[in-house]
Amino acid sequence: MSHILETFFKPKTIAVVGASKNTTKIGHAALKNILISDYECKIYPINPKEKEILGVKCYKKVTQVPGHIDLVIVSVPAKIVPQIMRDCTQKKVKNVIIISSGFSEVGNQELEDELKTIIEKSNMRVLGPNVMGYKNASDGLDASFVYGRAREGNLSLISQSGALGIGMIHLANHEFVGISKIIGVGNKIDIDDDDLIDYFAQDPDTKVVGLYIEAVKDGRKFMNSIKKCKKPVLVVKAGKSKAGARATASHTGSMAGSDKIYDAAIKQAGGIRCRDIVELFDRARALAGQPPAQGNRIGIITNGGGIGILLTDACEENGLVVPKLSSKTYKKIDKILPDIVKPNNPIDLTGDAGFYRYEASTRALLEDPNIDGIIVASVHGGYARPVEFTGAILKMIRERKLHEEFKKPILAAWVGGKEFEDLVWDLKSAGVPIYPSSWRIARSMMALYLEGQRLKREKGDI
Ligand code: COA
Repeated sequence: MSHILETFFKPKTIAVVGASKNTTKIGHAALKNILISDYECKIYPINPKEKEILGVKCYKKVTQVPGHIDLVIVSVPAKIVPQIMRDCTQKKVKNVIIISSGFSEVGNQELEDELKTIIEKSNMRVLGPNVMGYKNASDGLDASFVYGRAREGNLSLISQSGALGIGMIHLANHEFVGISKIIGVGNKIDIDDDDLIDYFAQDPDTKVVGLYIEAVKDGRKFMNSIKKCKKPVLVVKAGKSKAGARATASHTGSMAGSDKIYDAAIKQAGGIRCRDIVELFDRARALAGQPPAQGNRIGIITNGGGIGILLTDACEENGLVVPKLSSKTYKKIDKILPDIVKPNNPIDLTGDAGFYRYEASTRALLEDPNIDGIIVASVHGGYARPVEFTGAILKMIRERKLHEEFKKPILAAWVGGKEFEDLVWDLKSAGVPIYPSSWRIARSMMALYLEGQRLKREKGDI
């Protein structure tokens, strides 16, 4: 049986209430985004004054639209919204997105309660109010009023903040993180984070779920949805500080709650808490492109001693270990190093390390059963060209795909400038997460380890 939100994300008929010819209005942008979507559906603009908008026949009310309506997008001033919702109930509309602001987030609780009463008496699922809508990049539908196309991929994002959600679309594109769906939840009058996590848990186009939350309405449901989700769930929870909590109250009208309780609850449910949006994307990139780490033993390969130590410290600070090399691996790597150095972990290939040293040492760590994850780093030291480092990683990634037994993540780190940038894009587009900071790479490896542990718990192995 299909999920209850299937018609919400894949509607066959959409009406836009408050569609306008005025190009500066949100109702105009919402209608246009659907029209320019690469998505097949019937579209109905609703405006009492117009006969057609953007070449599409217009109706005065949703009740006058022929046939059923899967999704209604509402963009009229708050005070008109209850009447529109009553019309939707009468029309037996399945789903509604209320873009309009002016409810509990500005202290207008009474108006929001009026909407709740209408919804409770209906079978409608309602997103918002005070939302941007959603973009479904997997199916090509843009059901939001905001500008920007998300690069298709397998991260689905839920954002309590509309503006941040919009920023995240652009950040994702820039970071080569592909999006399946991105949705703003606003005041969460009906459709809540837990409903969406449940949907994404069974959505074949979603591999990783990410959330920006300020508060959840039902803690138990939220935790259960994360617990049930057999995919990694990354959570950024804002409002940690006293002043931050005060800011959440005026943003979405919600109470931030005790941060310690949230922290413990997310962990207990098997979610991975992220410090900020950049960390969420760093980790999403790792989880979407790499296999989880089966344990916390990390092998580090560098061409510079300093970055090797920084990476080791960052790993150990984040619950990972950087063990001594086994004698078998030691011997393999000793053979390829110049006489002046001996293999250690971190393995310093020295400043003139070229393709072969990177490739052979990465392979040695892939083959080592005492290593669960590999970090390969390059400092633009002025000897070997950066392309030798990135070329070796790409070769190892291809090789790992050929060998079933090498289920180990490979993450990359770089310290350099312009000459590196195109190569960094090459790695990112091949699904290799690459980071400019030892801390960020360690936090991402930690997420791969946590996901490995979650999968083991799910199987009953630990
Ligand atoms: N049914 C359908 N359309 C109606 C209507 C009705 N009952 N009553 C009025 N309209 C039409 C209006 O005539 C207008 O069309 P027009 O341009 O052809 O005149 C259109 O609906 C919009 O109404 P208008 O009064 O012009 O409102 P607006 O477009 O200036 O503002 C919102 C409406 C919803 C955008 C605004 O109230 C709002 O909430 N803005 C903030 C939205 C936001 O930021 N959300 C959160 C994002 S994260």
